[in-house]
Amino acid sequence: MKKFSKKLLAVVLCVTLAFGMTAMSTAAEDTIEIKRVSCTFNGDSQTSRGFCWYTEEYTDADVQIVKTADFDGTFANAVTYSSDNVYTHRDQFCHKVTASDLEAGTAYTYRVGDKSENIWSDAGTFVTDDGDDQFSFITIADVQASSDENFMEASETLKGAVETLPESEFTITLGDYVNDNTNEEWDWYFKHFEFSNMNTTSAPVAGNHDGNITNKLNINVFNSMFNLSNEDTDSNVNWVNGVYYSYDYGNAHFAVLNTNDMYPMTQSQRNWLVNDMTASDADWKFVVMHRALYSQGKNINKPDTIIMRNVLIELFDELDIDLVYAGHDHVYYRSHPVKGDEVVDNVTYVTENYKGEEITFANNPDGTVHILPSTAGTKRYGINEDAIDPIGEACAFHLSTRDMGGCFMTTVVDGDKVIIKSYLVDDETQDISLIDQYAIKKDLSQKIDFEPTDLPTDNASNIDDYISNIVTEIIGMLYSYIAVLLPQAIKGLF
Ligand SMILES: [Fe+2]
Repeated sequence: MKKFSKKLLAVVLCVTLAFGMTAMSTAAEDTIEIKRVSCTFNGDSQTSRGFCWYTEEYTDADVQIVKTADFDGTFANAVTYSSDNVYTHRDQFCHKVTASDLEAGTAYTYRVGDKSENIWSDAGTFVTDDGDDQFSFITIADVQASSDENFMEASETLKGAVETLPESEFTITLGDYVNDNTNEEWDWYFKHFEFSNMNTTSAPVAGNHDGNITNKLNINVFNSMFNLSNEDTDSNVNWVNGVYYSYDYGNAHFAVLNTNDMYPMTQSQRNWLVNDMTASDADWKFVVMHRALYSQGKNINKPDTIIMRNVLIELFDELDIDLVYAGHDHVYYRSHPVKGDEVVDNVTYVTENYKGEEITFANNPDGTVHILPSTAGTKRYGINEDAIDPIGEACAFHLSTRDMGGCFMTTVVDGDKVIIKSYLVDDETQDISLIDQYAIKKDLSQKIDFEPTDLPTDNASNIDDYISNIVTEIIGMLYSYIAVLLPQAIKGLF
């Protein structure tokens, strides 16, 4: 009898457990999925972060944040940040919350979701800037995949980057996250890049495939994928196809441009860049953008690029920009220092031991270096040998990464030194190899004193102005395009 009771009890327990597990899995299936989670720069990099995520059903927008040092596996000690910034975007719900009272130089753990319904994402992490002059970051470009498999392959490149530079404090992605800008592609992107987007701070850059007005137009897509802020553009229709913004990190200032913002770029964005850069007394000044001004890819001779070069090169010289990180052309390219659209020919170099490694530094060079880290993805282009003058002559190193691997770049900033290393992750073996290296040592006592005066404005705050600006810019663009290319075409005939 005792034996029978034990058997009966075992059966009852098994049945109960089986039903219980079924009930649990049903509950899990009913749980609303939280997806596309990102943590981005939004305001002061020492104290503030923007969070964005999606659900397919309505939920509130809450973020719980706790210092990682105090994280015990629960969020019992977390501070909850909430917002009513939840809106429908392409049949799904976009949520944005900004936390702006964080502590500098602190590692945080967070989750996003809905506190009242107790629906949460997995735990993510990020660190805030401690404000000192030592930090490092990762840069990739043009994931631009259009299948689940290709997003997965591109994510291997970023995994290689994190493995190479685990102390990286943020990741810059230079635009063209997707190819056809569909909901499905964005889901694939965020699924495969979740390991990074949820575990560092991202600095996103708008690419033309991410909602450009003449290419895969779906308005407000980029703006709705990330929680970014720029007071200059908060009420501006430029939000339809991208966002421009800036942030300080350590002793550097980063201006992230929106190269979808009309052609050759609205005067209001150019004005913003001038005011933004001149307001900063950072030791290093970096510009981050999608369309490249110097490269040897297939887009370099196109009208939009040529016209953008005409307006931006002069500004970069005036603003004393040290480095420009760009994408769009899916080839690796690094220029010599350039100024006035010419190679700076008096650069000297010094080799020093830096942390056990012999590094050759460009010694306080004049001018700006432009770098494209090819593509993290699998859509790789060949070298365009016919880039308009003087882009070919300005090239210090270029490489088509076709049939080779995905490319990523690491940047280490250490006081008066910047060291950039570029790597490939082999398609077949996943082995990581260094393909290029460039370093600068700068005299930080020399700072420019450029005061902008009487900046013109075409602030496109309403749609009529915006259309009028586009027409004016297109006419100007065609004129300049002919003026630049016609002489070269004639020259090529003889
Ligand atoms: Fe592009």
